[in-house]
Amino acid sequence: MTQNELKELVGKAAVDFIEDEMIVGLGTGSTVKYMVDFLGKRVQSENLNIIGVPTSDRTAKQARDLGITVKNVDEVDHIDLTIDGADQIDKNFQGIKGGGAAHLWEKIVAINSTKNMWIVDESKMADKLGSFPLPLEVIPYGSTQLFKRLEQKGYQPKFRKDANDEFILTDSKNYVIDLHMGEIKDPFALAKDLDSMTGIVEHGLFLDMVNTVIVGREDGPEILNAR
Ligand code: 5RP
Repeated sequence: MTQNELKELVGKAAVDFIEDEMIVGLGTGSTVKYMVDFLGKRVQSENLNIIGVPTSDRTAKQARDLGITVKNVDEVDHIDLTIDGADQIDKNFQGIKGGGAAHLWEKIVAINSTKNMWIVDESKMADKLGSFPLPLEVIPYGSTQLFKRLEQKGYQPKFRKDANDEFILTDSKNYVIDLHMGEIKDPFALAKDLDSMTGIVEHGLFLDMVNTVIVGREDGPEILNAR
């Protein structure tokens, strides 16, 4: 199976966890895109009363176009389940997210959710985090100075830019800096350090956050319960 077929497989498996009347956090990325497509089909065919809380403008548009009712995270009093992708997951179910520059909104929706599920193809599973660069969402003002501080710490930062060498902007109009630091020995210590740095709005370490992971494997979706 191709990587996209594995993404589609887990997208389909994930919607089985959605029940009528649920308020569902909708993640961002190519894997979630499949999931939202399948959810749209279920909403139409089963006439489900689902509210989707999207984690990006992209996902909001897709959900609306499919007839899914969409509400902002501040318009709901709870979120039953959030289904999102991930860039890397280690054997302790800690994750890196933000490859799609959406990790700030994704983390806000995740921490306001009763349950969190990640859906990934098997290439995302790793022993240790870090071979995937760690995204930071940063305030543009002062970001060159912040970049220097990250360099001094040996975090090997790189501004994320598009093909025209323009800064990528998040939905909150911030920049993204990716840390190419290789294996992360202690994700909790790194998260604490990044949390303390002025100018970083949010980093892409999602620690102790996920309850269930669905991994797309050749022989079918594998469901792992994290906590
Ligand atoms: C976006 C994310 C995505 O969930 C992550 O990048 C995975 O994306 P994909 O499903 O396209 O591989 O964190 O910020």
